[in-house]
Amino acid sequence: MKIGTPLTDHATRVMLLGSGELGKEVAIELQRLGAEVIAVDRYPNAPAMQVAHRSHVIPMTDPQVLNGIIMAEAPHIIVPEIEAIATDALAAIEAAGLARVIPTARATQLTMNREGIRRLAAEELGLPTSPYAFAGSAEELAAGAEAVGFPCFVKPVMSSSGKGQSYVEGPDAVADAWAYAEASGRVAGGRVIVEGKIGFDYEITLLTVRSLRNGAVRTDFCAPIGHRQQKGDYVESWQPQIMSEAALQAAQEIAGKVTDALGGLGVFGVELFVTGDQVWFSEVSPRPHDTGLVTLATQTMSEFALHARAILGLPVDVSLREPGASAVIYGGLEAEGVVFEGVAEALSVPTADLRLFGKPEAFERRRMGVALARGADTDQARERATEAAGKVRVVKP
Ligand SMILES: Nc1ncnc2c1ncn2[C@@H]1O[C@H](COP(=O)(O)OP(=O)(O)OP(=O)(O)O)[C@@H](O)[C@H]1O
Ligand SMILES: [Mg+2]
Repeated sequence: MKIGTPLTDHATRVMLLGSGELGKEVAIELQRLGAEVIAVDRYPNAPAMQVAHRSHVIPMTDPQVLNGIIMAEAPHIIVPEIEAIATDALAAIEAAGLARVIPTARATQLTMNREGIRRLAAEELGLPTSPYAFAGSAEELAAGAEAVGFPCFVKPVMSSSGKGQSYVEGPDAVADAWAYAEASGRVAGGRVIVEGKIGFDYEITLLTVRSLRNGAVRTDFCAPIGHRQQKGDYVESWQPQIMSEAALQAAQEIAGKVTDALGGLGVFGVELFVTGDQVWFSEVSPRPHDTGLVTLATQTMSEFALHARAILGLPVDVSLREPGASAVIYGGLEAEGVVFEGVAEALSVPTADLRLFGKPEAFERRRMGVALARGADTDQARERATEAAGKVRVVKP
């Protein structure tokens, strides 16, 4: 693997599609290795744009506009950070041999739609999942919900971060769940998955890295990350999540199978539910995962450094250094150009660190930053991270 000099004809150009807080860390890691980074998102001054060599503001779901910017920039590597992208355009670029799509164009297509990845995992690979059905109308949803049983979750097939999702306790609530999904799903014309509820003991993200070593692809697993979700969004994560040996084995086997099937190089966030020794596949991100922000505190190489290394064809080290935790800092208000108070107090908590993402606008439930901390164990780390996050106040300018 050769890496050129940024901003010259021989630069190794990497284009990020999606420029949020995860992309920002990936951009920094890529630049540390001498890559030229071009950040793209649908709004200006997105976090990764603030550290990239250049940026572009475009509607990334428009295949023609997306194709145009890729042609103009001629990146060697395209790194999707979000799902809402015209992935068919990426498939055409990849097929023409114009750039490498991370991990593969097909993986981005399959995972942007819950139907694609669920059918692959459950029906082709035979992995254990919640019972599920797909529906394209209120009537189909009612039948599907009866079939999987109550309580269940209804989710637009194209959605993330809990958008348009409902927790449905009984038949009376199905119509509302349909209306809510249709209103907030990413693509009009509404299709949903209904999933029976898994009564798990805990849920994890198993960061799985496909990288090259001596010319061969290998798979490595980071220590499992435990997390707590609220309204489909993570509020707190910690690493390592203590698991039984049998559950860890099962988790790695599932993650190995699903990432083998998706292929390519890079970090994958495999979301799993665990009860005792039993493990269910939930979903997978073919990219660093938000709950994996904790690795900035815990691992020799964060998930962002791992992604940068893997996609450049370089070897990785997934070792855990110390138990740690992350706690999300929400906007808590709607305002542009917010100010963060209490930063010194937060950083006075032992081992605490912060990432303030620099998003130009805050919303009530928008993730504006994250507190990180280490500890003798994850309990202590969680207390510290939560304390530090709680000291940061987001206020109007
Ligand atoms: N079938 C299920 N059984 C039990 N809990 C579930 C189920 N589906 C979802 N959940 C809960 O809701 C959370 C969010 O679900 P899911 O990951 O499918 O949504 P998402 O919108 O993709 O979220 P994100 O983008 O944050 O990963 C899960 O992490 C889990 O806590
Ligand atoms: Mg999820």
